This record gives sequence, structure tokens and C-alpha cells, in this order.
Amino acid sequence: MSEEDHAARDARLMESEARYRAVIENASDMIQSVLPDGTFEFVNNAWLRTLGYTAEEVTKLIIWDVIYPASMEHCQLLFARVFGGEELQDADPVFMTKDGAPVPVEGSVTIRELDGKIIATHGFFRDISERLRARELEEENARLEREKLARYLEKMAALGKLSAGLAHELNNPAAAAQRASARLSDALLQQNETLQEIQAFGFSAEQWQAFSATLNRAACGDSSVAPTDPLQISEAEEELESWLSDRGVDKAWEIAPNLVAAGISAEQIEEMATGLPAGALNPAIKRIVEVCEERELTNVIQRSTHRISELVSAVKAYSYMDQAIEQYVDLHEGLENTLIILAHRLKNVTVKRDFDRSLPAIPAHGSGLNQVWTNILDNAVDAVNGQGTILIRTRRDGDRAVVEITDDGCGISPEDVSRVFEPFFTTKQQGQGTGLGLDIAWRIITQEHAGMLDVESRPGETTFRVSLPIAPAAKD
Ligand SMILES: Nc1ncnc2c1ncn2[C@@H]1O[C@H](COP(=O)(O)OP(=O)(O)OP(=O)(O)O)[C@@H](O)[C@H]1O
Ligand SMILES: [Mg+2]
Repeated sequence: MSEEDHAARDARLMESEARYRAVIENASDMIQSVLPDGTFEFVNNAWLRTLGYTAEEVTKLIIWDVIYPASMEHCQLLFARVFGGEELQDADPVFMTKDGAPVPVEGSVTIRELDGKIIATHGFFRDISERLRARELEEENARLEREKLARYLEKMAALGKLSAGLAHELNNPAAAAQRASARLSDALLQQNETLQEIQAFGFSAEQWQAFSATLNRAACGDSSVAPTDPLQISEAEEELESWLSDRGVDKAWEIAPNLVAAGISAEQIEEMATGLPAGALNPAIKRIVEVCEERELTNVIQRSTHRISELVSAVKAYSYMDQAIEQYVDLHEGLENTLIILAHRLKNVTVKRDFDRSLPAIPAHGSGLNQVWTNILDNAVDAVNGQGTILIRTRRDGDRAVVEITDDGCGISPEDVSRVFEPFFTTKQQGQGTGLGLDIAWRIITQEHAGMLDVESRPGETTFRVSLPIAPAAKD
């Protein structure tokens, strides 16, 4: 080959090498060539850019300087496999930038041999931080969605429990009012018959006056003049019963207690009866008893409907349905409304109150706080097995209002006490607790109210303490 030919071949070779070098230098993937002693034979621009080194600095590095410590062991194994002659298609080392930040990559590693000896490894890697971050974000979103769903289900379960309890509470007075009004309409029909019977006797004006006075007394049911001592009651009943039966009045034993309860004595009946036409006593007494019964039935209706509207107002107040989300809340009102709502669970529980009534209203989410009281009280009722004592104490501690709810139940074991506020931590049987009650209470207090919630427990005495800031404006 002539000298000219040599020169032309060298020029072509140089041109070809420059072309390949340009391709490699400007590739977006990280490319490296590592020698068996770990030093770098070559790295491209993407490699330098990603890890934050200059070409000069790379000459002083070995491969282990740019491997993230947590991935070191894994990379040593990969390195050993490559120098054992294996080419990798799925290498997944984690590099480390000059600042010490991890750079997860994936790619392949090939080897370069000379005379059957490995003289270098060539790695091609793609930075997958973004992809991993996106996956983490997706997983985090999925976790949040799951938690949101669990919380929603817990709310629905709480609502279910609440409405079951309320349905039960409302059912008793509603049924009582219904029964009483049915009996009242029967009694009103009956009274016409009795009045006609009486009219047939043609009472004089004085006789009507005496009779009406006794009727009025029966209608008003002046229980203040009725005897209260059991001994006096039975004496009065006996006296009246024998007076009535002596005069041939039907069912004297049944009538006497009703008249005594209405504050009517034997003397008053005697006064009325004096001068009544013969035979008129029976229908007259019957009418008086009817009036007593009518009065009792209207009382039942009044009491029942009062209880129903009391429950409805408690529910309205409990959920703060008709108020803004954040307002000045009277802690005692919230606690009392919650107790009314939970009445069905508290039947055999003694609830004691030790309230500092001088506590001012505090700015809060009223329905959120009621949810907190409900969850803590619900647990306390479980802890005392539906029978025991719960003490609710309120007090002021500097610029904070403190509510303590103590029960004399089983207590929380020392291993569990630090875990009760964890979501899904429960010691209850499946289907009886989701373990979210206290997690929700904790979030409401600490995140929505900048308050604190803690617990102290030993067998027979468990106290949950809520401490809430009293805003300066509320201090006056
Ligand atoms: N007053 C208490 N006395 C004893 N243990 C309690 C008391 N309050 C809470 N715990 C314990 O803390 C656990 C977690 O309570 P949390 O209210 O978060 O969930 P839960 O009551 O088990 O279920 P959920 O409230 O979701 O129906 C309970 O399972 C119970 O072991
Ligand atoms: Mg609970």
C-alpha cells in the first residue's frame, strides 16, 4: 500500500471514530466503559450531566465511588457476573451523584475482550428516577384512596350505629304516643254515653256545680295534694275503696287508686255525692274516672312528643346541621348532645359530670368535636362492657380547655397503649371494630383544631384527654 493509501485509510478511520464518538457523546442514555481495576476508560456527556462530575474529575474516580451505598452489594454481584463473562440485559444499579443523591437506572452491560481476556465493560443506562417517582406517587394516591374509602366506610358505619340507636330511642315515645291517642279517641266516644246516662237523672244546678268541681279536679290532676308516702297512699285508697263499695260502685278496687293519684279524697267524693239522685253515683264516678284516664293519656302524649322533639333537636345540634362549619362551640352543650345521642348505649352506665361551667365557648368545628366525644365514649362503653362508670371532666389549663373522659373499664395493656391512635389498630373482634375511631378523633383534634389528644391507662382507670386552644377573642 502506498503512503497516500495509508494516509487516506487513516483519515477514513479517524472520521469514522469521530462519527461514533459524536453519537455516543450525545446519546441521551448514560454510557460508561470501566476497566477491570474499576477506573473509567470513558464516560459520555449524559453520564457526566446526570452524576454532576467533570471529565477531569472522572479520571480520579473508580466505579465504586459512584455507586449508592444501599446498592453497593447488588452492584458488586453484577460486576462479578460481568467479569465472569456474562453480558447483562437487565442491570439495575443505583448510581450516586457527586452530591450523594441516588440515581436509579436500568440498562445493559457488555464486555470487550482481547485475546480471550476481558479488558473492559461497557454499560448503557437510562435514568428511571422519574418513572419510579411516578410509580411511588401512584402508590401513594392508591393508599390515600384506600384510607379515604376506609374512613368513609367508618363514617357510614358510625352513621348506621347512630341511626339504629336513634330509631330505637324514637320508637319508644312514638309508639307510646300512638297507643295513647288510640285509647284517647275510644275514651272520647265512651264519654258521650256516660254523659247521656248522667243527664237522664236531671241534676239540679247545685248538683251540677258539685259534680263539675270534682270533674275539674280530676281533669287537672292536682298531684300536689295527692299523698306521696306509700303508707298514706294505701290508706287513702283503702278508705276510698270501702266508701265506694259500700255504695255499690262497680270496680271500686280499680277506681280508688286512679282517684287518689288525681288528688281526690273520700271526703270530696262524699261532698259531691251528697244529694245526688239515687242511682246517679255510678255514672258520676264512671265519668270522673274517665276524665282521670283522659288526663293521663294526654300526659303520655305530651311527654312522648316532648321526648321526640328533644331527640330531634339533639340530632340537629349534634350534627350542627343548621350552623356554619366553624363557630364558637360550647363544649358542654356538645357533650350533652352526644350523651343524648348515645343514650341507648348508656342505659346501664353511670355518667358523672365534673364541669367547669366558666369555660368560654371555643372556636371549633362543632360536628367534628362531637364525633370525637362519640368515638371516645363509644370505646369507654365497650371498655366497661355496658355497665360501669364514666366520668366527664372539663377544666381550664392556661389558654387551653381540657376535656377528660375516664372510665373504670378493663384498661389498655402497656404494649397497646402507644398504638391506640394508629389507623386500623383494634383489639375488638372482627365486625365489632375497624380500629379507626381514635385515628379519626386524633386527626380531628390535632389537625383541625391544633389541639392535643392523649391517653393514660391502668386496669380500672382509663382517661382520654383532649386539650383545645381557647382563642384570645373567646377569653373575654
Ligand atoms: N377506654 C378504653 N379502654 C380500653 N381500651 C380502649 C379504650 N379506648 C380504646 N381502647 C383500645 O383502643 C383500640 C382502638 O380504638 P378505636 O376506637 O380506634 O378502634 P375500635 O374501637 O377498636 O374500632 P372502631 O372505633 O373503629 O369501631 C380499641 O380496639 C381498644 O383496644
Ligand atoms: Mg372505637
